[in-house]
Amino acid sequence: MKITAYGVSAEERRIFEKWQATHPDVTLQLLPDWLAADNVALAAGSLGISAFQTGQYDAALFEKMARLQIPVLAIRNVGTDNIDFPAAAQAGIQISNVPSYSPAGIAEYVVALALQLLRRLPEVTTLVADDQLLTARGLTGRELNRQTVGVVGFGHIGQLTAKLFHQMGARVLAYDAYYHGAEPTWLRLMPDLPSLLAESNLVTLHVPGVPANQHLLNATNLALLPAEALVINTARGNLIDTPALIAALKKGALGGAAIDTFEREDQIEPAVQQQRPIIDALYRELLALPNVLVTPHIAYHTNVAVENMVQDSLANLLAYASNGQLQTPVTH
Ligand code: NAD
Ligand code: COI
Repeated sequence: MKITAYGVSAEERRIFEKWQATHPDVTLQLLPDWLAADNVALAAGSLGISAFQTGQYDAALFEKMARLQIPVLAIRNVGTDNIDFPAAAQAGIQISNVPSYSPAGIAEYVVALALQLLRRLPEVTTLVADDQLLTARGLTGRELNRQTVGVVGFGHIGQLTAKLFHQMGARVLAYDAYYHGAEPTWLRLMPDLPSLLAESNLVTLHVPGVPANQHLLNATNLALLPAEALVINTARGNLIDTPALIAALKKGALGGAAIDTFEREDQIEPAVQQQRPIIDALYRELLALPNVLVTPHIAYHTNVAVENMVQDSLANLLAYASNGQLQTPVTH
């Protein structure tokens, strides 16, 4: 049996190779490039493909997979917003993701971002680099234990993020459009997004970047936040109307923002891959703001997560090989 993996980093390669040693019956082909219609032929003869990328999985890819008789795509991450599911269904391609490779790691990252914003570390770092230590000393921070944190999306990551903020003494609110579980004693579930925003000094997003969630935080919703509130986005860039966020930061309505997932990630990706300067105007405008922390979509990136991403993606492909069923199939 042959499996082809795309988007394989040096770090992942070591995990794949360790797995290979215990699965001598599988021929594993490891490729560094992202999966696309123009390179999928390299996977000819594979039972399935494992892939990791933020770029699109489009109709042309699925049509070609069907022609090559490769029935399965097992992505190594959570988000599925970059998959053309109707096209996959039309081509008869089944898809799995890794729904929970390490939500705790992402939750910890959110807390790290929150503390940096509260203590104004982006501003401090810039001032220190500029030898303006006295000015840096004058910046007053805020304490997490005095904040109300609003968690939007109470799924795998949102729940663990909420828990960490609670354990650190914050008052925690959450809103989830589809959550029907019990309300934990230590948290208040809000009936809608506006009521959560109206009370949150810090809001953190943990919903998928599906079209229905496009610009969940737009100018109207951002205006509901209390003065100097902080915004954290480690979910998907399209959840925030970035020009509206920049406008709110510029006029001082918001106190700061941490953006791990940027709205125009697709557009800046070629420059990222080629290690060229990023000239996207919106990106540069965001980066130039003193109270904004930008990170390059790395909230997921821990040793635990990478190991689980590889192992769980391969487990899906092996399950399919043995009984025709993916362990964690996704259809939207
Ligand atoms: P999940 O599916 O477990 O939880 C998402 C929750 O959002 C669900 O409970 C759902 O009911 C809720 N939801 C959907 N739309 C909503 C809306 N409009 N309002 C309120 N709630 C809504 O997903 P997860 O594992 O918690 O991951 C969340 C997102 O985080 C993923 O979709 C992915 O885009 C992103 N992510 C980012 C990174 C990173 O490295 N930055 C890593 C992993 C995941
Ligand atoms: C996800 O798992 O959905 C992520 O956002 C990680 C990303 C690098 C693909």
